[in-house]
Amino acid sequence: MTIKRIGILTAGGDCPGLNAVVRAASKNALSHGIEVLGFKNGFDGLVRNEFIKISGDTVSGILTLGGTILGSSNLANPFNYTLPPFGTPEKPRDLSSVVMHNFKENMLDALITIGGDGTLHMSQKFVEMGMPIVAVPKTIDNDLSATDQTFGFDSALHIATEAIDRLHTTAQSHHRVMIVETMGRYAGWIALRSAIAGGGDIVLIPEIPYNDDVIVNYIQNRKAKGKNFSIVVAAEGAKNEQGEQAIARTVAGSTDAIRLGGIANKLSDMIESKTGIESRACVLGHTQRGGTPTAFDRWLSTLYGSKAMDMILEGKFGYMAAFHNFGMDEVKIADAIANLKRVDPHGAEVKAALEVGMSFGSREIG
Ligand code: F6P
Repeated sequence: MTIKRIGILTAGGDCPGLNAVVRAASKNALSHGIEVLGFKNGFDGLVRNEFIKISGDTVSGILTLGGTILGSSNLANPFNYTLPPFGTPEKPRDLSSVVMHNFKENMLDALITIGGDGTLHMSQKFVEMGMPIVAVPKTIDNDLSATDQTFGFDSALHIATEAIDRLHTTAQSHHRVMIVETMGRYAGWIALRSAIAGGGDIVLIPEIPYNDDVIVNYIQNRKAKGKNFSIVVAAEGAKNEQGEQAIARTVAGSTDAIRLGGIANKLSDMIESKTGIESRACVLGHTQRGGTPTAFDRWLSTLYGSKAMDMILEGKFGYMAAFHNFGMDEVKIADAIANLKRVDPHGAEVKAALEVGMSFGSREIG
C-alpha cells in the first residue's frame, strides 16, 4: 500500500516531548513526500474534523517547546463522547463512526496516535474497526509495561527532584517537615525516583501501603539523632494500610474519571499533630507536566516519532513504538494495554532506597 497522507494527534494529559514526537514523525513523513494532517485536541479533532496541514515550517523550532502545538484533551473519548454540542456528561454518545467517516473523508492512509493508557485503549478499538493506527506511548507516569520508558517521565522526574532539592534548604532553615506531593496516578515511579535522586527521607508510593505510626516514629527518630527536618515524598496515589487514597475530584467523561490529590495536606496535618513539628505541604501538580523537555526526553521523543513513521511505511498497523534496551522496538497495542507497570516492592530500586536509610512508611518493608 502506498502511503500518501497521514494524520497525527496528541491525546490525554500533555507532557514535555509531545512536540518533539510530532516534529520527528512529520519530518520523516515529509521526507518521503507524504502529507501530514495534525488533528487538534486529540480525538476531538477527528470528531469535529479540525486539523492543520503540517509543513516543514510548522514543525520548525518546536523540538524544545513544552505542551503540544496540536492541543490535547483527556475528555474527548469518541466512544463515550460528553463534550458539547454533541454530547453531555449525562448523555454521552458513541461518535466512533464519525471518526471513521472523517478519517476516510480526508483520504488518510494511516494515523499516528500519541497518548497514554486511555488513548491506547481508544486506538485499539479503532484498530479493531479497521483504522490503520501506529501508537506512541506518552505519560509522565511511566506506567506502561510494554516500554522501558515513556517520554515525558524524565522531564517530570527532573522537576520533582529539583523541587526536593529546593525544599531541603527551607526545611533545614525552619526545622520543619516538608511533604512534597508528586503525580503518577497508580504508580510510584515519579515519587520513588525523585526521592532517591533528591535524598528524601520518607517516600510513600501506591505499591507499598503506609502506616501513620511508622512515619511518625521515623521522623521522631531523626529528631532524636539531631536531624531537625525531614522530607516526605508522597505519590498522589499512595495508599495507607486500609487502602485509602486521597481523591481530589471525579471528571465526568474522562477515560479514568478519578483525579487523585490531597495526600500532602492530609499527611502534613497528621504529622504536625502527632509530632509537634511544624509541617508544610507542597503539591507539585501540573508543574511536572509543563515546560521544556529534558535532553533525554527530546532524544527519546525523536526516536519514538521517527520509529512511528517507519512503522507506518512498513505497514505495522495496530502496533505501538516501544523503547527497549536503549533501542526502538514494536509491540502490539493490545499487549501494551494489558498491564500497568508498577514499582516492584521487592525490586532493586526499593532495596537501594532502604539501604541508604529511606523509609517507605511501611510496617512490612521499612
Ligand atoms: O496521567 C498524567 C497525569 O498527570 C497524572 O499523573 C495525574 O494523576 C493526572 O494526569 C492529572 O490529570 P488532569 O490533568 O486531568 O488534572
